[in-house]
Amino acid sequence: MPYVNQSIKPLSTRVNEKGNLEISGCDLVDLANKFSTPLYVLDEVSLRQMAQDYKNAFSKYEKIKILFASKALLTSSVAKIFSSFGFGFDVVSLGEMHILLNAGITFDKVSFNGNNKTYDEIVYAINHNIDHFSVDNLYELGFLNKIAKSMGKVQKIHLRITPGIECHTHEYIQTGQLDSKFGFDLSALDEAINLIQNEYKNLDLKGLHAHIGSQIFETQCFYDEIQVIMSEIKRLQDKFNIKLDEMNIGGGLGIAYTKEDNPPSVYEVADVIIKAIDDGCAKFNLEKPTLYIEPGRSLVCSAGFSLYTIGSEKIIPNVRKYIAIDGGMTDNIRPSLYQAQYSAQIANKKDEEKYETVTVAGKCCESGDILLKDIELNSPTAGDILCVFDTGAYCYSMSSNYNSALKPAMVLINNGQSDIIVKRQTLEQLTQNDVILDRL
Ligand SMILES: Cc1ncc(COP(=O)(O)O)c(C=O)c1O
Repeated sequence: MPYVNQSIKPLSTRVNEKGNLEISGCDLVDLANKFSTPLYVLDEVSLRQMAQDYKNAFSKYEKIKILFASKALLTSSVAKIFSSFGFGFDVVSLGEMHILLNAGITFDKVSFNGNNKTYDEIVYAINHNIDHFSVDNLYELGFLNKIAKSMGKVQKIHLRITPGIECHTHEYIQTGQLDSKFGFDLSALDEAINLIQNEYKNLDLKGLHAHIGSQIFETQCFYDEIQVIMSEIKRLQDKFNIKLDEMNIGGGLGIAYTKEDNPPSVYEVADVIIKAIDDGCAKFNLEKPTLYIEPGRSLVCSAGFSLYTIGSEKIIPNVRKYIAIDGGMTDNIRPSLYQAQYSAQIANKKDEEKYETVTVAGKCCESGDILLKDIELNSPTAGDILCVFDTGAYCYSMSSNYNSALKPAMVLINNGQSDIIVKRQTLEQLTQNDVILDRL
């Protein structure tokens, strides 16, 4: 039996007596009829299972802190679910902090990441007693110290480094390389430590942070990353007599979007990570650090799927058949942005019908608005409901109002129950911030 992140479809997916796809006891055609399309759906059972697997997998490491990377998918309900597992959060903006507060979550397990935090964001985070900042560059170091000083606070920080580890993911979503907009080059670290020790008295440096990429399948990357971080901790300890007993290794575990994807389970990854720390402690003569991890995609992606209604079609003889859906790059930018691939199925047709190869296009005014290229679907026709799997991460959070499309609703399903957790955007909301000047 695969683990949640290794399965393209939620584990409860089946074809029911009506011949419709059913997930967690919910008929997908009924969901489309009840809530309309396009629709984001989250399977709570998968979500909770993956969170539990993370907890179990890392339970062998006593000093573990799991932070959910909010950028993958943040709604107040999602935040509440992860909080109930004792997870903290990695945030990158005022908006993400606001959503956490809206969900009643305090900031004692929150880390603030990002390469250009603004004055307002920093003040807001400090005012709400955020646990720590992951400082990205020298400019921010001075800026944060100044603000913390003016607020009479000594602020805990980590320093984000670029460990120079490359992972086999698409280049647009690698952030651990040397040529990266994120983090300190290892060569710039000493200057930062000098400043912290001699000038920046309102900063309390506790550890190092790195993030080496996303959709990672190779556990060795994490092993190597940890060796780089620990060797830096040792070097800084010897050179500056500074004790860094916290380490954040970021997120990155991949999921299966298609049959070609073969991600490890979180248990396999946890074993490699824990072994890497043991080896690092022995090699560098260090005590076990507090380990922070900040998974995003692997915690939410496989629990999510999107429902669309198929509309028009266009056949170019001997070239391609296009079918169009009522959503597209506005609710899932990933295929257009970095050629991400997905698996999909018609929700209202039995398996034995006729399969054909089609290209699924969105309805936006962009030729690149193609959701699925050359995919086998079960005689797709207007009115059918298309289910695209694994849209839990980086779809809703990257959605836009391009073409003034309304953002879809999101529904949480659980054993036959289905509830809206994000309402569909309304036409009124589209214009609520428009200002019509008197002189016009
Ligand atoms: C600093 C940091 N941490 C965690 C994550 C989450 O990564 P993933 O969704 O691949 O687990 C990201 C994503 O880009 C990130 O930039």
